[in-house]
Amino acid sequence: MDRNYWERIAYSYNDEIFDVFQNDKTGIIRSAITEYASPAKTVMDIGCAVGKWIPFLALHFKKVIATDISSKNIELAKKNCAHIENADYLRADMSDSKLKIAACDVAVCINAILTSSLKDRIIFFKSLTKCVRKNGILVLVVPSLESSLYTSIIRHRWNVDGINRRKKHSLKDYQQKIENFSQGNIEIDSVPTKHYLKEELSLLLSQEKFRTVSFQKVQYNWRTEFLQPPKWLKEPYPWDWLCIARKY
Ligand SMILES: C[S@@+](CC[C@H](N)C(=O)[O-])C[C@H]1O[C@@H](n2cnc3c(N)ncnc32)[C@H](O)[C@@H]1O
Repeated sequence: MDRNYWERIAYSYNDEIFDVFQNDKTGIIRSAITEYASPAKTVMDIGCAVGKWIPFLALHFKKVIATDISSKNIELAKKNCAHIENADYLRADMSDSKLKIAACDVAVCINAILTSSLKDRIIFFKSLTKCVRKNGILVLVVPSLESSLYTSIIRHRWNVDGINRRKKHSLKDYQQKIENFSQGNIEIDSVPTKHYLKEELSLLLSQEKFRTVSFQKVQYNWRTEFLQPPKWLKEPYPWDWLCIARKY
């Protein structure tokens, strides 16, 4: 999931990438953001992609700085949000150790730290510190490893979507998958994607001058995981982690 990957899928983004804004049915992320929003504050949308969160952010803050690694995504975000006057756009790579960026009062980073590259993630987390002023707030959403494992266990135990009839992998494939899994990199549409444990995320943020304020689950419908979820399958629903953290 390097820059090329995001540039390549930019024009088919809506078909390929899960839409958190639409699927957060209870609006838990929006509530978290509005709690810290103000017409006097600036907000950075880190990994804004095609700009799904920009209209909402623009409504609640003085200024939105929308950033993304992909210039095509930035171009599409600008086009999709052409009617919004209080948004600026910036192509910025959060995994560039030389990144220079002006800090905002609040930073929102929704499912953007997905790369399976440890080196890129380490720099990405360091860059988060640069984006938020002292005492500012980070609203971070990431895929949950606990949720992914829970889903995998259900899929296997009840043979959901006929998964157990599918073709077996080679030994080499299995070794790679185990190596990936041990680091929380789970394949989504064959792309290794970083998933996080709650404790891991808390530790990573504490190393970068962020104190965790709260952890919540952003819960989704089972249809986001299975084509035919068993009718009896209810709570807990699959989830992402929503973490609010304050920079000190
Ligand atoms: C799954 S999309 C999420 C988009 C958006 N936050 C949303 O919720 O609709 C991930 C975005 O993060 C961006 N991204 C990935 N790595 C990045 C990096 N190193 N620096 C900046 N943006 C990055 C990608 O280009 C992509 O647009």
